[in-house]
Amino acid sequence: MKPPLIVANWKMHGGQADCARLARQIARGLRQNSAEIEVVLAPPFTALNAVHRALRGSALKLAAQNCHWESQGAYTGEVSSMMVREQGCRYVIVGHSERRHVFFETDAMIGRKLAPIMAQGMGVILCVGETLDQRQSNQTASVVRRQLQLALKGLAKADIANVEIAYEPVWAIGTGQNATPKQVSQVHGKIRSWLVQRVGAAGKGTRILYGGSVKPENVASLVAVDEINGLLVGGASLKSESFLPIVRAFSQK
Ligand code: PGA
Repeated sequence: MKPPLIVANWKMHGGQADCARLARQIARGLRQNSAEIEVVLAPPFTALNAVHRALRGSALKLAAQNCHWESQGAYTGEVSSMMVREQGCRYVIVGHSERRHVFFETDAMIGRKLAPIMAQGMGVILCVGETLDQRQSNQTASVVRRQLQLALKGLAKADIANVEIAYEPVWAIGTGQNATPKQVSQVHGKIRSWLVQRVGAAGKGTRILYGGSVKPENVASLVAVDEINGLLVGGASLKSESFLPIVRAFSQK
């Protein structure tokens, strides 16, 4: 298994100076941890370059929060994988629930993004997760399976095993209500079995992250879940005082 992966998703927060400052604080705070854990920062597009420069000399990596599937073209307001790679990105987050539910990205649209991102030499962080209605009507496993199937459809087996999967129940994102360790462990277990069935033993090495209201106060209970190989952190990643304890807690795993 690769080292645990912790991703800070800053969403639409911060100008260049704020993001660069936060990146430097986090890099400074993690100097000793860098070997045991992979830490990735995903600022808004407009701060990618500033954060890339702020991270020089550190082991932290840069991610984009989204990209388009084409490398260029008449797509007003979009940014391609080639463009974010040029800014220094090593990863792209794909299929975040806000992209799915606020901007109506479909599984088919999401599925078209993975191969171009990998062709640029970057890693994919693919988000999947059910809504509250879907959980309450017992559809969690089928929703997550369908999201995985459709997003990973066009990829070779070896590439599928390299995708980072983030299980983020929609009802837990930004709500302060995180999934319980038992709920996370059940869904992660199902994702793992599906991966192994789909790509064989290589699927045992795919990192499966959890995201949704991760905070310093609940990180210990999540670290204890064997099936969790990393975290995707939103709100608590916007301050080094809350993000650093989360990374440190995970370094003990
Ligand atoms: P949250 O966001 O930690 O603020 O719930 C997580 C995410 O959206 O990735």
